[in-house]
Amino acid sequence: MKIKVNSKDNADTCRIVTGSPCGYVIFGASGDLTRRKLLPAVFSLFTRKKIPNNFFLVGFARTPMDDDAFRQRVRDAISQTDDESSQTETDAFVRRCFYVAGSYDQDEGYLRLKAKIKAAEIQFSTDGNLVFHIATPPSLYATIVTLLGNNQLVWRGCTTTPFQRVIIEKPFGRDLASSVQLNKDLLIHLCDEQIYRIDHYLGKETVQNILMFRFANQIFEPAWNRNYIDHVQITVAEDIGVGHRAGYFEQAGLLRDMFQNHILQLATLVGMEPPVDLSADSIRDERVKFMKSIRPFDLDNLHGQLIRGQYGAGKDGALSMKAYREEQGVGATSCVETYFAMKLQVDNGRWQGVPFYIQAGKRLEKKLTRITVVFNKVPHCMFNTKKSGFNPAPNRLIFDIQPQQAISLLFQAKVPGSKMCLSSLAMELDYHETFGEKMDEDYSTLILDCMLGDQTLFWRKDSVETSWKLLTPVLEQWESCNREARRDLLHGYVAGGWGPEAGQRFIEKDGRTWFIE
Ligand code: NDP
Ligand code: BG6
Repeated sequence: MKIKVNSKDNADTCRIVTGSPCGYVIFGASGDLTRRKLLPAVFSLFTRKKIPNNFFLVGFARTPMDDDAFRQRVRDAISQTDDESSQTETDAFVRRCFYVAGSYDQDEGYLRLKAKIKAAEIQFSTDGNLVFHIATPPSLYATIVTLLGNNQLVWRGCTTTPFQRVIIEKPFGRDLASSVQLNKDLLIHLCDEQIYRIDHYLGKETVQNILMFRFANQIFEPAWNRNYIDHVQITVAEDIGVGHRAGYFEQAGLLRDMFQNHILQLATLVGMEPPVDLSADSIRDERVKFMKSIRPFDLDNLHGQLIRGQYGAGKDGALSMKAYREEQGVGATSCVETYFAMKLQVDNGRWQGVPFYIQAGKRLEKKLTRITVVFNKVPHCMFNTKKSGFNPAPNRLIFDIQPQQAISLLFQAKVPGSKMCLSSLAMELDYHETFGEKMDEDYSTLILDCMLGDQTLFWRKDSVETSWKLLTPVLEQWESCNREARRDLLHGYVAGGWGPEAGQRFIEKDGRTWFIE
């Protein structure tokens, strides 16, 4: 479908805003996330002039390295994802990169970090503004913030001129008690306006668009409720396995890794009420209100609401894929879930009786993140006669988040030819075809928002705790079962397929089906 973009409608809001002068400090700078995501994201902001020339980056980690060795890592990291930038741009960026080796729990490294920052602030005139990005194992988050505070690298309340902001990676705790404790520890040295709890799904263009789509268009809102919607379904499928992250994943499992954060945010964007305005807190108030309206899991009848699976071995063409239990770092008897299917009920006026079905898994057939809003069937369908046997499929609104980025509306239409021939057709807005240009990566959007002081796309303290409050009883029940009981409840599936049979039955028993094609 041809889409005409009318940029005159929105000339002012489309203005690209540039971040303030600032220094950006990464803890865990020798790590995987820094290499794969953070360095390419910041470099992309730099080359697209979304951060000014008054900018520098300092990496901090234990690995011994000097500035030159770190700069080589920076070059390697950006060359993995960028093939458009010139040598001059790369050189200009790398000149702004520095490194400090030190222990995360000793003042000494922080004092050297402070000296490095002071020198760079003078060299690049960054007005004392600082963003710290903590990309270390979660057990170090509180320690690092405490030492930043003790060494006067952050001051509680410094939200503007000069600002000190701290980006915290997920996971924010591993259950309700630990997330409450983490928030308490962080809030000794920072106020909540300085804490940017990142969820990279919220930085994806197509995820951000859900709000625009819902609240800037009048035609869908009247139908966005239990009177017109049969159910909502969310599929978050990955083709990759646990990779090198078994150490973390064995302690987490897929519910902690994907549901408590990314997936719950997707459901929330579909389900939340309209905010009173676009301020970060108005939007976050509505998000947390929706999370609070999700009915707690019925622990006595959990299998009707949640099933877990784990991938076995499989084949991708000639390539063999290992079973989860054979992956490096995974216990031979591990009962950690790599798949789940879930049904959520929402107790509020808009969604009462409309289930939200969710399935997510690793080592599934393909990467697919999709939200489908399935409308009710036509109440009386005159086309459905004994003779025609025609049973029109209900309308579906599909948000394809990745890898394709699109919104499609499925409806019934007449097919040319025979008088009564109808078929399901799709009206589709494909982002790539429509907008052509390369879109910002999730991490670029979020790091820039932090530099701009915009917390809309970040988790607030209360929503983190609300999400853990929902999930923790389920995790505790599972973890209190003995291994045999867990093994019996875990459904195996072949790597490279669409999950366990039980995942299909889970939704089919309610007379519905996953829309994944
Ligand atoms: P890494 O395991 O690569 O750790 C980052 C750095 O932390 C390492 O290079 C290491 O640096 C230091 N480190 C690692 N283990 C320890 C330890 N036991 N004690 C002290 N220091 C340690 O992590 P990632 O880069 O993968 O992830 C960083 C954070 O981001 C994590 O909290 C993770 O949950 C989160 N995250 C990661 C994603 C990813 O795709 N990787 C996605 C989303 C979130 P050194 O030894 O030099 O100090
Ligand atoms: C991370 C999870 O937060 O998100 C990973 O820890 C997962 O397990 C990743 O693979 C998926 O992100 P994306 O952007 O590739 O869908």
